[in-house]
Amino acid sequence: MDQERRLYPSWCNPLFIRPTRPLPEEVAIIGAGTIGPDIGYYLKSALPGIKLYLVDIVEEPLKNAEKRISGYAKKALDRGKMKEDQAKSVLSNIVYTMDYDQIKNCDLVIEAATENIPLKQRIFDNLEKIVREDTIITSNTSSIPADRIFSKMKKPQRTTVTHFFAPAWRSLPVEVITWEGGSQEVVDYMFWFFATTGKAPIITDNAICFMLDRIFDNWCNEAAYLLDHASARQIDTVVEEFVFAGPFYVLNMARGNPIIIETNTLQMEEGPHYRPAPILGSVETWLTHRPGTRLEVPEDIKNTIRDRMLGILFSQSFDIIDRGIGTKEDLNFGCEIALGFRNGPFDIMRDLGEAEVNRIMRKFKEERPGFPQAKRSFSAYQDFARYLLVDEMDGVKIITIRRPQALNAITDVINDEILAVLKEHMDDPSVKGFVITGYGKSAFSAGADIGRFPEMLGDRDASVQYSKDCAKVQLFMDQMDKPVVAAINGLAMGGGLEVAFRCDSMIATKNATFQFPEITLGILPGIGGCIVPYRKWPQGADIFHEMICLARRITAKEAADMGMVGRITDDYHEMIREAVKEVNNLQGKKKRIPDGPVDIPEITIPDQPMARGLVLSKEAVSIAVKTIKDGAAADNLADALEIGYRGFGEIACTDAAKEGISAFLEKRTPEYKA
Ligand code: COA
Repeated sequence: MDQERRLYPSWCNPLFIRPTRPLPEEVAIIGAGTIGPDIGYYLKSALPGIKLYLVDIVEEPLKNAEKRISGYAKKALDRGKMKEDQAKSVLSNIVYTMDYDQIKNCDLVIEAATENIPLKQRIFDNLEKIVREDTIITSNTSSIPADRIFSKMKKPQRTTVTHFFAPAWRSLPVEVITWEGGSQEVVDYMFWFFATTGKAPIITDNAICFMLDRIFDNWCNEAAYLLDHASARQIDTVVEEFVFAGPFYVLNMARGNPIIIETNTLQMEEGPHYRPAPILGSVETWLTHRPGTRLEVPEDIKNTIRDRMLGILFSQSFDIIDRGIGTKEDLNFGCEIALGFRNGPFDIMRDLGEAEVNRIMRKFKEERPGFPQAKRSFSAYQDFARYLLVDEMDGVKIITIRRPQALNAITDVINDEILAVLKEHMDDPSVKGFVITGYGKSAFSAGADIGRFPEMLGDRDASVQYSKDCAKVQLFMDQMDKPVVAAINGLAMGGGLEVAFRCDSMIATKNATFQFPEITLGILPGIGGCIVPYRKWPQGADIFHEMICLARRITAKEAADMGMVGRITDDYHEMIREAVKEVNNLQGKKKRIPDGPVDIPEITIPDQPMARGLVLSKEAVSIAVKTIKDGAAADNLADALEIGYRGFGEIACTDAAKEGISAFLEKRTPEYKA
């Protein structure tokens, strides 16, 4: 945990940082090659009001950059991801220029030029002469440590490396490097800045290739060495068990061979075993196929490939943790969302088990001597929450659900992890209570993970059991003496809203919304959603009817007017502070959910129930109505909750549920039978 303290000296959740400067008004990107325009498009999409300069020394890439950025905006428009006026502001105020003098008023400059130390140093020297003293200057190098590129600067304190992943306009992670010559203020600011603009930044140490490219580069390099034993197609096929696209396919896409040669040559400072595979220098394009193409690979070759590729993956993962280059949480997270691994390396290890990992590492040691091996016990690499960040503020534990790739949708693992944190600190007298919030500015949680549903649909018992398993967190919160406050930072939907409703209080940002979209999927909120709100806020019953039966979405203000939300805040930062205060206010004042039956007004449903233009399933709506009514009439809360679980079990066996869930997963509009 030492390394984690050093990498994250203040907060793990970047939005807890109070920035020392405002958002930039003018930003420059140096280098209009591939990644520069992509970074530019991300910045303009997130902050359409800024003035963006794309700078290059020749005109051609600038022209291409302009075309590329307009193309992205057009695609976003065509796909309905952006409105006309939004696209207009994204494309306005971009200056494509070869004149460095134009960028003198920039608050932030991101260098994205070729990976060449003297070139980068010349750029920074030039920049220092042009921009203000307080302008933050960062480099998008993927491999060169910060001290080597910034060492000749007069004010290196204002610099750091901010390493994006392709495609930079969409890929969530950005590595923000902490290095001894740079100031903590700049690291904190960039960490906050990226999260504020929709990225998922992670802080890593200043090692060669930082964190995630140590995985990616060595993964590709090892694949190239394996060509002595197997073909590129065979290697790509075998490792698709672990990644969405094999290394050769990715190298072709990225024209990446020279990059691996360059970065692995740099890593050779750590030992000759990092030497780039010679074949990378003599081949331009690999003979491989699209991911998912079937190819039979003989068992012995398959095992050779699998063991070696896992060997390098595990070796690098151990080394990153043992040297404190990054945290286990971030390595797992980054491998999944930046590098396309189906599971993080520590999850792969967990699933294989200790004995198998040891076997792979022994074999790898024999075949590839010199590479790092584990320095700790197997369990020491497993001991972390995969999807939660836990911070502490004023004696309150703040749990952030971090799964931005799925709008913080709650999986079984996340449920277990929340429960584990609550249990761990329940009896600790130094902990006053808990806040639960979501990562990023858009969602508290988009509900239970819909990918989990297909396996239980049509099976009543399995569906009831699923609801009960999920409800463990809520039931535990019900009986805890310490208060739990939900800090709603955006969409609170379905299973996420059911967790929030169960907390002792809710604080929300002004953009927060509350919705049970289940009925649009042909299901109902089965983890207390049809029960608890009626008992906690009976005055809102009419609105809950519409929320559950017609998927009505309500705003933070409506929720506050109804007495559900204690306080609405202007931003995330204030929301967290208020939520922590609320935990303090609730000391010794925790209220239990009223136990007895509750009178509810009649539920009136139109002949053809609709939700935002979608024709709903009448059968599903009638099961929801019955569940609400029976739940309200139940003698006590426990019985009512049971009715809710059973309602979910019943609805999960309808055609509507099958259709609704399949439609979501196939990204189409569901068509319900009348
Ligand atoms: N479970 C699993 N994945 C989810 C999810 C959920 N509840 N909610 C969102 N996601 C995933 C999406 O599938 C998408 O993944 P992809 O990028 O791999 O395709 C990603 O999160 C982003 O969502 P997307 O739909 O592209 O964002 P959007 O801004 O267009 O729409 C929502 C946002 C919330 C309206 C939409 O995601 C949605 O309707 N989600 C389902 C909400 C729901 O029904 N919750 C109750 C579940 S019981």
